[in-house]
Amino acid sequence: MKPELKLPGIAYGGDYNPEQWPEEVWAEDMRLMREAGVTMVSVGIFSWALLEPAEGEYDFSRMDKILGLLHDNGIAADLATPTAAPPAWFFRRHPEALPVDRDGRRLSYGSRQTFCPSSPAYRRAALRITRAIADRYAGHPAVAMWHVHNEYGCHNAECYCDTSAEAFRGWLRSRYEDLAALNEAWGTTFWSQWYYDWDEILPPRPTGAVPNPTHQLDWRRFCSDELLSLYVAERDVLGAAAPSIPATTNFMVMYNFDALDYWRWAPHLDVLSNDHYLRSTDPESEIDIALSGDLMRSLAGGPWLLMEHSTGAVNWQPVNRAKGPGELRRNALAHVARGADGIAYFQWRAAKAGAEQWHSAMLPHAGTDSRIWQDVVRLGADLRALAEVRDSAGTAEVAVVWDWNARWALELPSQPSGELRFLDLVRDWYEPLWRAGVAVDFVRPDADLSSYRLVLAPSLYLVDEAGAANLTSFARRGGVLAVGFHSGAVDENCHVRLGGYPGAFREVLGVRGDELFPLLPGESVGLTGEVTPGATGTLWSERVRTEGARVVATYTEGPLSGRPAITRNAYGEGVAWYVATRPDPATLGALLDRIRSEAGVEPVRTTPEGVEAALRRGSDADYLFLIDHSGRGGEVAVSDGATELLTGKPVGDGSVTVPAGGVVVVREPRQ
Ligand code: GAL
Repeated sequence: MKPELKLPGIAYGGDYNPEQWPEEVWAEDMRLMREAGVTMVSVGIFSWALLEPAEGEYDFSRMDKILGLLHDNGIAADLATPTAAPPAWFFRRHPEALPVDRDGRRLSYGSRQTFCPSSPAYRRAALRITRAIADRYAGHPAVAMWHVHNEYGCHNAECYCDTSAEAFRGWLRSRYEDLAALNEAWGTTFWSQWYYDWDEILPPRPTGAVPNPTHQLDWRRFCSDELLSLYVAERDVLGAAAPSIPATTNFMVMYNFDALDYWRWAPHLDVLSNDHYLRSTDPESEIDIALSGDLMRSLAGGPWLLMEHSTGAVNWQPVNRAKGPGELRRNALAHVARGADGIAYFQWRAAKAGAEQWHSAMLPHAGTDSRIWQDVVRLGADLRALAEVRDSAGTAEVAVVWDWNARWALELPSQPSGELRFLDLVRDWYEPLWRAGVAVDFVRPDADLSSYRLVLAPSLYLVDEAGAANLTSFARRGGVLAVGFHSGAVDENCHVRLGGYPGAFREVLGVRGDELFPLLPGESVGLTGEVTPGATGTLWSERVRTEGARVVATYTEGPLSGRPAITRNAYGEGVAWYVATRPDPATLGALLDRIRSEAGVEPVRTTPEGVEAALRRGSDADYLFLIDHSGRGGEVAVSDGATELLTGKPVGDGSVTVPAGGVVVVREPRQ
C-alpha cells in the first residue's frame, strides 16, 4: 500500500518561499493564509543554498521556524527536496556537473536546473541534502508530503556531455545486451553507421545530415529514465526515513512539454501532481485544462493534485496575459472537475526580486486590496464547500490512446511531413468530445480496455505488437475503434511495417495504403460522401484501397480523387474506423458524434453551447461540474434531490442555472 496524503477535503495552497522575505512578513503570511483557507503549502523547493551553506554544513534554523509556524497555524507542509537548484559552491567544486547543450556549449550556473542528470557528483550531493532533510523532518508534525525536486527535466531534460554519453551507453547495454541487437534495432547498416564497440556510440549530437531515428528515440527514452532514476533515488531516501509520508513530484503533462514518459513515471509516485499554465495564444485554454486533467486522472488512476497554476499572468511567454473576470475560479474548479483533489498556485506571495518578479501570485504586489486576492479568498471558500468531492473518480466510456514513444517518434525529423504534431492531432479529436460533454480517459496502447465502449487512437505512429494486438482485439470483441492517419506505421524500433499502410492496423481497419500524399501547409482537399458539403481535409492524405472496409468519404480532387479518405470496417463483433486525413473541425466533430452514437456513448449531460460538463462519481452520489465559458450561461437539467454544493442550496425544479462565466457544482444522489 502506498502512503496517502492525509488531509481533509480539497487541499488549497501554493509554493511558499518565505526565505525571500524578512521574518516580519511571515506572521502576515500566516494570517492571510488562514483568511484564504490555505491548508497546504510547498516549502523549500529552491532552498538548497540556504539549507546547506557549504558542503555537508547545514543550517536548518529558518526551515525549523517556517515549519513550526505552519504547524501552529494548522497548515500542512509539502516539504521539498531542494535539488532542482544546486548552489554556486557545488558547481565551483564540480564544474563537470554543469550540463552541455546539443551544440556542445557547457552552460553556467546562475539560474536553476542547470545540472547534468547523469553527474555522479550531482547525485551524491542531491542525496546528501535529501538525507539531511529526511533525517531532520521525517517526524515533524507539519510535514504531510514530500515534494521531490521540481518539474524534472523542465530545463535540463537532455545533457550531451561525455558523462551523459557514458550513461547512455550503460542504458543501451542493459536494453540490448549485445551490440548486434543494437545494430539490428537501429538499422545501422544504413549510411555506414554500424558500431563495433560500445564506446563508439554517442548522444545524438549535431551531425551533417539527418541522424538515425532509432538512435534519437532511444536517446529520448534514456533521458526520461535517467531523470526517473534520480527521482527514485531521492524517494527511496525519504521513504526509508518516513514510510508513512507520501512522495510526489510535479509533472508537466501539457504546455508542449514532452521530455518524460509519464506512463513510466506514474507508478513510482505515491501521489500524482501536475503543473498547468495557460498559453496566452490559446483562445480556448479551457480545453487544454480539461485534456490535461483527464490525462492526469488517467495517469493517476484516480484523483491527483494540481501543484501549480497561476492566479493571473505568468512571466515566461512573449506576452503574458492576465486572467479575465471569473477565469481564476473557472480554471481552478475545472481542474477539480477532472479529478484534482488539491489546488495550488505558483506562488503564495508575488516576488519583488528575482527572475519571476513579474509572475502573478495568490497575494499580488498590490496586496489584499486587489481583485486577485478577492478571487483567492473566494476560491478557498469554494474548495471548502467541495470537500466531499474528494476521492470521487471519473466515469469515462471513451478511451483516447496516448503514448510518449509514439509522440517522440512522430516528431522526429525526416517524416513524410514535418508538420505533424502529436498534441495537435490528439486535441483535434478531444475537442469535439469536450464540446459534447463526453467523459474521456487516456490510456496506453496496451491498457485494459474492457471498461470502454469506444477507443480512439488519433495519432499512434509507433506501436509495438502488444499494443496493436490489444487495440485490434478490442474491436474484435465488440468495441468501436477509430484510428487516425499514419498510425501503426512503425514498430517500437521505428522500423516501418512492410506490406502497406497503416501497418499494424491494416487488418482491423480493412484497408491498405501504398503511398503517402502529405499536404502542404495551407493546402486542402475536398471530401465527399457521408460528410457535409464543403468538407475538407488538410495536412495528410494517402492512397488507400479498401480490403473489406466500407468507404464513408472520398477525396473530390487531386491525385487521390475518388479514393477513400474515411472508412468503416465491421470487424469481429465490433467496428473499426480509419480517418486517413485531417478533416476540418466541423467534419471531424460530426464524424466523432456518429462514431460515438454507434458505440452507445452518451455525454455526461447535455448542456447549452459553451457550458462544460464533467462528472465525478462518489460512493453514493455523482458530482456534476458545470462551467460556463460562453459568457451567456444557461439552464441544465439535474436529477431529483440534487443540491448545489457551492451555495449549499437544494435544487428545486429539476434544473440549475449556470450564471454567465460562472460555475455550478451539483451533488446528485445515486438511486
Ligand atoms: C514552473 C515552476 C515554478 C515557477 C513557475 C512559473 O514551471 O515549477 O517554480 O517557475 O513555473 O510559471
